[in-house]
Amino acid sequence: MIGRLNHVAIVVPDLAAAAATYADMLGAQVSAPVDLPNHGVTTVFVDLPNSKIELLYPLGADSPIQPFLDRNPSGGMHHICYEVDDIYAARDHLKAQGARVLGDGEPKPGAHDKPVLFLHPKDFNGTLIELEQV
Ligand code: CO
Repeated sequence: MIGRLNHVAIVVPDLAAAAATYADMLGAQVSAPVDLPNHGVTTVFVDLPNSKIELLYPLGADSPIQPFLDRNPSGGMHHICYEVDDIYAARDHLKAQGARVLGDGEPKPGAHDKPVLFLHPKDFNGTLIELEQV
């Protein structure tokens, strides 16, 4: 059911510094920062030949990633995103298998304006999983 790895997301304590690390030290192509108010994050995307890295920084007072940054002040891996062809079919399949979909269970536009869902880390070996319909 799942397709390609779309991205790995890393929460960072300083978005400009993290983007500079990827651009200057690692020699990668990085995007300009984009605010996603619906998700409470600001993102920078790092383009890799075979995937992407999503750098995440809290946006707004009740950003859902602020508690993560409080627990991991130097940042850390936050989620991985797999591509799916049909996010509703994927959701219904996963729910039927007992997996928990976070939030109200309805896909929301993600960082690429494509529908995304998040799956409970306890059902996936401690890893928060994002599904993105491509
Ligand atoms: Co993501």
